[in-house]
Order: sequence, then C-alpha cells, then structure tokens
Amino acid sequence: MNIVTDIGVWQALRLQLHGQSIGFVPTMGNLHQGHISLCERARFENDVVVVSIFVNPTQFNQASDFEKYPRSIEQDRMLLEKSQVDHLLLFTAEHLYPDDYHIQVIETSLSQFFEGEFRLGHFTGMLTIVLKLLNLVSPQRAYFGEKDYQQLLLIKEMVTALFLPINIVACETVRAEDQLALSSRNSRLTKQQRQKAALLPKLLQSSLSIEEIKQQLIDAEFKVDYVDEKWGRRLAAVWLGEVRLIDNVKI
Ligand code: PAF
Repeated sequence: MNIVTDIGVWQALRLQLHGQSIGFVPTMGNLHQGHISLCERARFENDVVVVSIFVNPTQFNQASDFEKYPRSIEQDRMLLEKSQVDHLLLFTAEHLYPDDYHIQVIETSLSQFFEGEFRLGHFTGMLTIVLKLLNLVSPQRAYFGEKDYQQLLLIKEMVTALFLPINIVACETVRAEDQLALSSRNSRLTKQQRQKAALLPKLLQSSLSIEEIKQQLIDAEFKVDYVDEKWGRRLAAVWLGEVRLIDNVKI
C-alpha cells in the first residue's frame, strides 16, 4: 500500500491513474469491520482503491470530543494493507484547509434537524471536508455507511446539487453480535456501558412506539438526544456517559 502525505504528490499520482476506475473510502480512522466492509466492496467494484484517514476538526462541535476521538494509525495501516487498499491518504489540517476554513459548504434544510440540531456546525464541517476529498480523489465511486444516515443523504444531495460525476454507494451498517452498530466511538465505552449499549438497536428494532423507546432508554440511564422516524427509518442519538451513539434501522 502506497502512503501519501503530500497533496501535490497525490495530485501528480492521480493524473497517472487516468482511465482506471477509482473507489474511494473517506474515514476518520480507528477502523473497524464497518470500514473494512466498505474497502472490500470498493476493492470488488474498482481498479484502484483509495482510503483517506483524517480526523476532521471542523465537524466536531466539542473540542473535547475531537481530542478524545480514538486514533490508531498503525493498526489502521495494517488493516488496510490486508484489505488490499492501493493508496492511503494521510493529509493534515494545514494541507486540507489552506483557506483556514473560510470557504464552507452550507446546507440549509436537511442539515437543520436531528444531528444538525444537536451538533451545531457538524454538517457544514463534514460536507466541506467531503467535497475537498472528493475533488482531490475524483473517484468513480465513493463508499459511505448507512449508520450515519443523515450524513449519507446530505452527501448524496451535495453531489447532485454540485454536479459531481461520482456515484455515492450506500453500504449497510455492520453490527456486532449483540446488534450494536460498529463505531469508532464504541472503543470509548466502559465494559458495563458496552453491554448496556446493545439496548439501543434492540429497542429500535422492536415494535414499541417512539415514546416507549425513549422512556425505556431514559429508565436505563441513557441520555436521549432524539428518537424519531423519517425516511422509512427509525433514527436515534443517545449518550452513555460521555460517549454519544447514533443508530438507525429500516422500519
Ligand atoms: O463518517 C465519517 O467518518 C466522516 O464524517 C467522514 C465522511 C470521513 C468525513 O470526515
């Protein structure tokens, strides 16, 4: 696997890949089987697979969440090698924000509720970095998990609105045996919290009403940001201690 840390070097290399299909998996690292399944699908559907790891500061609405976001670059590198990824992009904030974040991608509708309401500025930061990365990689296909469902819809909307010739491929959420959606943040849960966390997918998949689900979560000492239904899905964001979990299931 080729590791690229310089944007100029990558841009020169990208020109040489002309004529080959490129599958791109943007990540913030601390990779798990959910990310690996995206890489495997990209491997199957494209000539070249590119992965980026960048913990994007502009999409964190709390400095402490950014600081505590798990980072495990050596382990990530080994996992990506095993998944036969061709190029790993490791750019810094200085590289990716030469404008000092003065240029931003703002969406004014879909981004205003659920995650957008509870994480102010999150979607602006996320859309801005995704647009930068899509422009740099210029892939035929880019792969995103359905766990971040609102993010996925926003990226699709941006790609359509800005006429980017990129196919956004939605991939099903990968779950642990107890149905908890895999997430980099799960590694921050204590053993006890991790056991309790499985209640979230269990309740979302149940036939209980939204109000009943909320009540059961509160009774189990989750802090609930929202539980709601939209887009034929049940979506939720909750806290267990200092760790925020999101999930959604098809109704
Ligand atoms: O889903 C993520 O990991 C991030 O939001 C993304 C898409 C890599 C942008 O930083």
